[in-house]
Amino acid sequence: MSNGRLASDWWRSAVIYQIYPRSFADSNGDGLGDLPGIIGRLPQLRELFVDAIWLSPFYTSPQHDAGYDVADYCDVDPAFGTLADFDALVAESKRHDLRVIIDLVPNHTSNEHEWFKAAVAAGPGSVERSYYLFRDGLGADGNLPPNNWQSVFGGPAWTRLTAPDGTPEQWYLHLFDSSQPDLDWTSEWVREQFREILRFWLRRGVDGFRVDVAHGLAKKPGLPDYTPPPSDETASMTSPGDVPFWAQPAVHEIYRDWHRILEEFGPDRILCAEAWVEPLSKLAYWVRPDEMQQAFNFTFLEASWSAPAIKQAIVDSLAAFESVGAATTWVLSNHDVIRHASRLGMTPPPPQGEGIGPRTEPKPDEALGLRRARADTLLMLALPGSAYLYQGEELGLPEVTELPDSARQDPTFFRNHGKLYGRDGCRVPIPWEADAPAYGFSPSGESWLPQPKEWARLARDRQEADAQSTLRMYRDALGLRREFDLAGGTIEWLDGYPDDVIALRNGAVTVITNAGDAAVALPTGTIVQASEPITASELPPNATVWLAS
Ligand code: GLC
Repeated sequence: MSNGRLASDWWRSAVIYQIYPRSFADSNGDGLGDLPGIIGRLPQLRELFVDAIWLSPFYTSPQHDAGYDVADYCDVDPAFGTLADFDALVAESKRHDLRVIIDLVPNHTSNEHEWFKAAVAAGPGSVERSYYLFRDGLGADGNLPPNNWQSVFGGPAWTRLTAPDGTPEQWYLHLFDSSQPDLDWTSEWVREQFREILRFWLRRGVDGFRVDVAHGLAKKPGLPDYTPPPSDETASMTSPGDVPFWAQPAVHEIYRDWHRILEEFGPDRILCAEAWVEPLSKLAYWVRPDEMQQAFNFTFLEASWSAPAIKQAIVDSLAAFESVGAATTWVLSNHDVIRHASRLGMTPPPPQGEGIGPRTEPKPDEALGLRRARADTLLMLALPGSAYLYQGEELGLPEVTELPDSARQDPTFFRNHGKLYGRDGCRVPIPWEADAPAYGFSPSGESWLPQPKEWARLARDRQEADAQSTLRMYRDALGLRREFDLAGGTIEWLDGYPDDVIALRNGAVTVITNAGDAAVALPTGTIVQASEPITASELPPNATVWLAS
């Protein structure tokens, strides 16, 4: 069985549910989700047979990047609650047999963090400035940025300070928004601060950390210029080749250090890398035995709806992760990508970060996208290893494509002058009860992003009552995943199927995914789960079935 708080290697098989706190459940009616709201909904997560929750940031923050701009790593933003609420959330989660993973954002702080404010005040050459990447500008009067790096969110990765008397000053590096200055991880002082931040939360009982931008902390010495390939105008999260700010070898010593700190708290605390690194054989460095336990498999997430592409991603992932003794960490959606129920209904989907909006053409085919999303999910949940789910995917939520520009909050939208929509469309507060204000998200009916009118039919309570619903498919599949110990199994590929079909066996379960246009004859066996209603003899296009023999 894949459950079990006692197993120290629980993460190898765990299903981890990502909670995006601002959009999960709002207890006080201000339209922003909060920690007490999460506590109230834990029983419903437990019913879903997930093993752990991962909370996106809830720390003190001016919220210029939805909390990924942290102003105090050791406190809760009043908008989300208090440290006492956090402690209660951990205690309640344990009571429900759910582990708790929190987000750690070490690449950058907020520009409102005390460290950055002190660095600005202390001036050029100060020790405080050495904690960040301040540099003089180029050119006679220093008015050119220190190098040509571009921000992931668009525009230059450098911003120039202005002294109180109006004189232009030094520049500082920010791979993301200008409100997110990058820390200098060659600084021993910075390293020591983060050791203590890890211990602070480990003492409060967290089971681990999802590490934000885990491929970005180390920069190439000298900060040399980098010109991305022409297709890649901004510094996309997975740039190819040797990029001076991504996947630099020096990053690994940091994680070896953290590995030892986690061990101080026992054998079962984990680190999960958000590292957009290709190829998978390189991503495997992040999960070597003395580094992190998990790394998101974005190659699988980004595979298009094509059997050879998906199969190749699975084969390469298993080989890469196994080569270092790690389990694979499958994922199809999160708060940064177009929800897979919409993404798979687009050929091709827009690149990561671009988003979908009212002016996007063609729009996703939502019916087709949902069928493929259900099929892809059922394939994912049959694979050995761990799986991450993003809140709302169990309801089959699509990307919200019709958000008005005035509602948008993602810095990507602003830094690109509205040319890219960004990620707000996957962050809309989720529907719980069809007939309640804000579909049960908030007692006042407020919602920080507007929820579409059609979402009543996707509300959790409606889906509870419908045996064919996406919610019921997730719940059944997650239960069966445990029952058949699919997470702990091994894959055997089955021959004799057309190229656009994926066929494999994992223990007692045969899994067939039809990514082609024609129905496929099924082998004999009992249908234990299917992504849509099927007959015993054939599998229609865009569907997955689990058969027990
Ligand atoms: C990660 C987060 C994303 C955030 C960025 C900067 O990619 O998942 O939401 O904007 O890092 O912290």
